[in-house]
Amino acid sequence: MALDYSILSSICVGIVCVQIIHIVLPWLYANIIGPTFFGPKINLCQMGAWAVVTGATDGIGKAYAKALAKKGINVILISRSLSKLEAVAKELTDAYKVQIKIIDIDFKDGPQIYQKIEKNITGLDIGILVNNVGICYLCPEFFIEYITCYPQFLRDIISVNIHSVTHMCALVLPNMIAKKKGVIINVSSISAVTPSPLVSVYAATKAFVDKFSDELQTEYQSQGIIVQTLRPYLVVTNMMHKFKPNLFAPSAEVYVDSALKTVGITSQTNGYFLHTLPQFINHLLNLIVGRHITKILRFKLLKIVRKRALSNLDKNK
Ligand SMILES: NC(=O)c1ccc[n+]([C@@H]2O[C@H](COP(=O)([O-])OP(=O)(O)OC[C@H]3O[C@@H](n4cnc5c(N)ncnc54)[C@H](OP(=O)(O)O)[C@@H]3O)[C@@H](O)[C@H]2O)c1
Repeated sequence: MALDYSILSSICVGIVCVQIIHIVLPWLYANIIGPTFFGPKINLCQMGAWAVVTGATDGIGKAYAKALAKKGINVILISRSLSKLEAVAKELTDAYKVQIKIIDIDFKDGPQIYQKIEKNITGLDIGILVNNVGICYLCPEFFIEYITCYPQFLRDIISVNIHSVTHMCALVLPNMIAKKKGVIINVSSISAVTPSPLVSVYAATKAFVDKFSDELQTEYQSQGIIVQTLRPYLVVTNMMHKFKPNLFAPSAEVYVDSALKTVGITSQTNGYFLHTLPQFINHLLNLIVGRHITKILRFKLLKIVRKRALSNLDKNK
């Protein structure tokens, strides 16, 4: 009997060791050790002379454009408003003496916008693409209520959050493949991998970005191309204007500084160490109370957020 117990405990110790080797160590490397001591693992400047950033005039996109320009990389800024593009272009050329090109398009528009982008980027040595542009709900809401209020929303969110990512990849990948190097950063969201009722369409578009990037990474990693999915939690930008920057919700600059250190280290990341916590808590709840209860808890929480957001919207009317 004593022998049985010792065999059983050895098996348990063995299982724990295997878990540590396969899950905990890679997690520590991807989220702490790699970014802190080795990141970014590749030289971004050697990818090519130019980077393309979509949604580049505000928030996370502007912070990427700034961080890349600071490294001496020329940047193509793509966004909707021409005056904002011109202002950011001036800010970056003045500060970092790099070349900046601007392309004003609305990603809600039809496929012709990609012809305009293609015309403007043809012949440039593009080494980095940051697919950042994205739109979200004005506040959490039930699916039918939201699309009844905003009938254009379904078409718009799919054009901006999904079509932009696939079309932009299709535009830059052929040259990256020819050069056998390049980096594509696709900005998803933590909502892609955690229960997100009341922002269902947004979360589903981000899950698309997640899955698409993952498969693209498998298809092209042997050709020297890095495809990274970024899953931010809260970053203080126009999209999240209610918050003031804090430890859990950093400014876009702090967030991007941290996220850039993960390039070449991991292909799926929250980009910022404290943003791993909500995902971790979600995993833990799934293990302890099960996925069904986790989803119900999250739904209750988001209903409270919705109620507050609606009363704020009413006050601002
Ligand atoms: N902030 C967060 O907490 C958070 C969390 C998770 C994921 N994300 C993701 O991160 C990405 C960036 O978010 P953010 O918070 O930085 O956004 P943001 O501050 O609202 O900035 C959005 C940028 O996209 C441009 N843009 C918006 N709609 C556009 C359109 N239809 N066509 C062309 N450009 C357009 C805006 O430029 P114009 O004003 O000139 O149009 C602006 O430069 C999004 O994909 C978002 O889903 C953000």
